[in-house]
Amino acid sequence: MTAQNSSETEDRKDDHLQIVQERDVETTGTGFDDVRLVHNALPELDYDAIDPSIEFLSHNLSAPIFIESMTGGHHNTTEINRALAQAASETGIAMGLGSQRAGLELNDERVLESYTVARDAAPDAFIYGNLGAAQLREYDIEMVERAVEMIDADALAVHLNFLQEATQPEGDVDGRNCLAAIKRVTEALSVPIIVKETGNGISGETARELTAAGVDVIDVAGKGGTTWSGIEAYRAAAANAPRQKRIGTLFREWGIPTAASTIECVAEHDCVIASGGVRTGLDVAKAIALGANAGGLAKPFLKPATDGSDAVIKRIEDLIAELQTAMFVTGSGSIDDLQQVEYVLQGETREYVEQRTSSECRVE
Ligand SMILES: Cc1cc2nc3c(=O)[nH]c(=O)nc-3n(C[C@H](O)[C@H](O)[C@H](O)COP(=O)(O)O)c2cc1C
Repeated sequence: MTAQNSSETEDRKDDHLQIVQERDVETTGTGFDDVRLVHNALPELDYDAIDPSIEFLSHNLSAPIFIESMTGGHHNTTEINRALAQAASETGIAMGLGSQRAGLELNDERVLESYTVARDAAPDAFIYGNLGAAQLREYDIEMVERAVEMIDADALAVHLNFLQEATQPEGDVDGRNCLAAIKRVTEALSVPIIVKETGNGISGETARELTAAGVDVIDVAGKGGTTWSGIEAYRAAAANAPRQKRIGTLFREWGIPTAASTIECVAEHDCVIASGGVRTGLDVAKAIALGANAGGLAKPFLKPATDGSDAVIKRIEDLIAELQTAMFVTGSGSIDDLQQVEYVLQGETREYVEQRTSSECRVE
């Protein structure tokens, strides 16, 4: 990639951040409304003794809540990452950084600092890096290790965003050989690999392929929250690219709703993060009852992060209180207990899951 292309990556990141902050970029329909946890009127628990902590990839996290991959790659994101990292450190939860492509390809100290600030602000937190599957295909393993070293990462997330690429006027729409690249990196990298979508979900079939490739964690990033085709539609409109604008708008609601994607992925992999439109601690609780290990949120942390780490900490504490309330009224003293809670599946999610597991349309 040329320096010019790399700085285009940096400018694109800035466009995205501005659109996410100023425009309507959220869809609905995660399916969590269709998941009803069965109330326990006699929980026989002391609320204050409930323990929402988990062990995740050999690290202790105070709660099963992830700050999903967002920023880095532009100098104006440094303060956002500092606030997110300080909050992750203070509260003991995990944080993902945004794509490190610009950090690897641009020789710019200020761009680099937009990533390294996270580790500086949170020396002991679980922080994970981020690259696109298309970059894994291009980079040798030394280059991928550089992304890990840049932030002393505890894991590396690899994002899948082909709908977004197809909606971008300048998108990379060659989707070939990504699974082989993921497998190659999974076998050689010094840290675990998380494969994530970016808002369109992961099916059981894809989860099975990723599991066979040796991926350590699947993050579903399903439909129902931030829409990247919607974001690209705004960019396309501004760039006078009417076809891309139409496609971005047409596919705004595309994808596997997060609840259904979670159900499909937990059947194929034993470590799954549910994200994409997760907005409350109750959503996190429902995801865990469906079998996920944790829930993740991206956009809801952006505004608080621009206000500083105290605002992010407050948002995290609110989420944990909501989760802990759900644990209380389902009689769950621990996250393991919550995974065993009975639930009822209703509406479109039930229909979706039934069709996907019926003999005519099997997941396997
Ligand atoms: C401002 C912003 C930037 C993002 N940048 C990245 C990125 O660089 N890499 C990535 O894997 N996902 C990125 N995402 C996607 C999120 O990690 C997440 O999958 C998606 O936004 C859905 O979650 P949400 O509905 O909670 O926002 C970004 C999301 C936002 C809001």
